[in-house]
Amino acid sequence: MNRSLIVRTRLISDVLLTSAVLWQVVSSYPTYQQQIPNGDSVPHPCKPNTFWAGVGHQNDQGSGERNAFGRDFEREGKIWTQSLCHLDSDGDGLTNGQELGDPECVWTPNTLPSRQVGLSNPGICDPWDSPVCFSNNITSVKYQTQEEWMRDMCRAGPLLCPGLNESDVHQVALTIDNGTQVPFMDKTYYCQIFDLESHMTIPGNYQIIAVEPVIDNAQVLHHIALFGCDDVQPASPAPFDCGVFPSISCHTFITIWTIGSPGDCFHPDTGISVGSGGFTKFAVQLFWNNPSGRDDLLDSSGVKIYYTEKRRPYELGLLKIGHESFLVPPNHPAVSFKSTCTSVCTKSLFNGTVYVTMAWNHMHYIGKQMQVQVLRNKTDIQYLTFDPIYNFDSPQIHVFQEKPFQLYPGDEIITTCIYNSQDLSWTTPWGEATTEEMCYGFLVYYPKENALKTSCVTLGPDVNYCDNSTFHGCSDLQRFSSPFFLSDADFYQDILHNCRTFSPCVEECTNTIVQLKKNDPCFQDELFDFIKDQMLNTNPIGQDMMARIASCQRQVDSVFNISRNTRT
Ligand SMILES: *[C@@H]1O[C@H](CO)[C@@H](O)[C@H](O)[C@H]1NC(C)=O
Ligand SMILES: *[C@@H]1O[C@H](CO)[C@@H](O)[C@H](O)[C@H]1NC(C)=O
Ligand SMILES: *[C@@H]1O[C@H](CO)[C@@H](O)[C@H](O)[C@H]1NC(C)=O
Ligand SMILES: *[C@@H]1O[C@H](CO)[C@@H](O)[C@H](O)[C@H]1NC(C)=O
Ligand SMILES: *[C@@H]1O[C@H](CO)[C@@H](O)[C@H](O)[C@H]1NC(C)=O
Ligand SMILES: *[C@@H]1O[C@H](CO)[C@@H](O)[C@H](O)[C@H]1NC(C)=O
Ligand SMILES: *[C@@H]1O[C@H](CO)[C@@H](O)[C@H](O)[C@H]1NC(C)=O
Repeated sequence: MNRSLIVRTRLISDVLLTSAVLWQVVSSYPTYQQQIPNGDSVPHPCKPNTFWAGVGHQNDQGSGERNAFGRDFEREGKIWTQSLCHLDSDGDGLTNGQELGDPECVWTPNTLPSRQVGLSNPGICDPWDSPVCFSNNITSVKYQTQEEWMRDMCRAGPLLCPGLNESDVHQVALTIDNGTQVPFMDKTYYCQIFDLESHMTIPGNYQIIAVEPVIDNAQVLHHIALFGCDDVQPASPAPFDCGVFPSISCHTFITIWTIGSPGDCFHPDTGISVGSGGFTKFAVQLFWNNPSGRDDLLDSSGVKIYYTEKRRPYELGLLKIGHESFLVPPNHPAVSFKSTCTSVCTKSLFNGTVYVTMAWNHMHYIGKQMQVQVLRNKTDIQYLTFDPIYNFDSPQIHVFQEKPFQLYPGDEIITTCIYNSQDLSWTTPWGEATTEEMCYGFLVYYPKENALKTSCVTLGPDVNYCDNSTFHGCSDLQRFSSPFFLSDADFYQDILHNCRTFSPCVEECTNTIVQLKKNDPCFQDELFDFIKDQMLNTNPIGQDMMARIASCQRQVDSVFNISRNTRT
């Protein structure tokens, strides 16, 4: 799988130390590792829990030709300088310092860099498998493009999965129709929906324990996603051009395959129910990358699903966290949204420890950077995901298969999404279409029943309905959508008596609204914007109240010294 967050362990640094002497005979990079921040712990882009041995070299084992960063390093006299730190050797938009955990360019040898997580290789354009980076020409005797280089470094081995050796393991291949033509477009999402039961020899109650890619045309295939569908979803008679989701009823991610991964062998104690007790319909989604626009390419890739009737102790679940219903304003290089699944929320959400085996970020095309952090006891911060350069077409999967990430009731889970709308002159709303935006972290975890809901998402100014301390002091927040609550509320009665709808503005109305805004947190700032949009707007009493408040908008603003931009 792809880059996972690797926290440097004592064990690994010991191994590096003891082998340094031997390596010096072969090449001299281990001493250079000490000359750059985190030089000995830069993750391999596609091999989990593996470091890139010589950051400045083309080969992941260290020796041989230099990459773009290695050449810049040499030019600087093989030391970490301000100018080397500020350079972006691989041209991906992050400086060498940002990639190596020294964003302020203050690191000196034998000190701890300011950041030790979320590192990336300053010689490899990121996301390393994005269509843009793949097409980069590189200076090399062996390779022409980053794609050739990375495909060589990321060759997947066989899927090692002891469970598959057990008896009673069945397999079924869900591949899209033989001879399907790849459209002559840069990039395409193509889907086919299958009825698993019609492919099973004996229908029954099973669990999936592994998913392996079936790669037909490696030249165009970039990644594969497998979704579970609701039972009502019919199988599709043929593959079809699809969007972000294969269909409205196929929205449960099961797994994602990306270049370099041999497949997904689930944690040995876990499975996903299929057949009579679980999913019966699956959607396979392929992402094809055809930059030269050839029209003679065929593909029939897909996945092989391994399933067994010997049930595992735990069922895997999928938890969604993040922010819903936001607007990204136009013309901005970095718009940031933060979403907190608070400690109070995780206490009611989890009734026991939850073990995360895989996590990934999900935004759309103006997503720029994203992370999911876990804050424990208000002090200990860990990362579940970190994509310093996010790209929708190159999902980065963070795997914790061997050592699941433990989430406890009471942990805080903080999702941060940053968007770049610099090239847009319009507002991007939240939504499922690729022209809209999302901000979700997906966590695959077990045991499924230890999370009592499938999501913990926030709205508006980071409001989370599971924790009234996020209500910005408006304890009645959730009742605003009820017409009965509104019509009985004192504030509505006051507005009804003192304000006309739309106009004219009368002084007693201004005074009523000013008093409300001063005394009632529900009528203040961003929270009131949220209440207007999500609640008042949805019922006639709320709309009537809004029309009355609107009559004195200008007069109320002037009391609060708010000046609005006049039309130019
Ligand atoms: C890479 O090199 C090829 C051949 O020299 C050229 O056609 C192509 O435009 C180059 N690509 C980029 C992204 O510079
Ligand atoms: C099955 O077991 C054999 C022998 O122990 C091993 O070589 C092989 O890799 C195993 N297969 C899988 C899929 O793990
Ligand atoms: C796919 O079609 C080709 C040519 O039509 C044929 O040779 C091949 O056997 C088919 N493969 C499968 C898996 O049906
Ligand atoms: C959590 O609740 C579910 C459903 O009530 C139950 O099946 C499960 O055993 C509980 N887990 C723990 C650790 O108590
Ligand atoms: C949080 O801190 C308390 C008191 O210091 C400690 O008892 C508890 O084990 C800590 N929780 C975790 C999950 O580390
Ligand atoms: C929040 O909810 C708790 C438990 O339901 C309640 O005791 C408390 O008074 C509420 N706080 C506010 C500010 O509404
Ligand atoms: C508005 O500005 C006036 C004059 O500058 C000041 O006296 C008044 O306190 C301000 N009101 C608010 C609500 O800030």
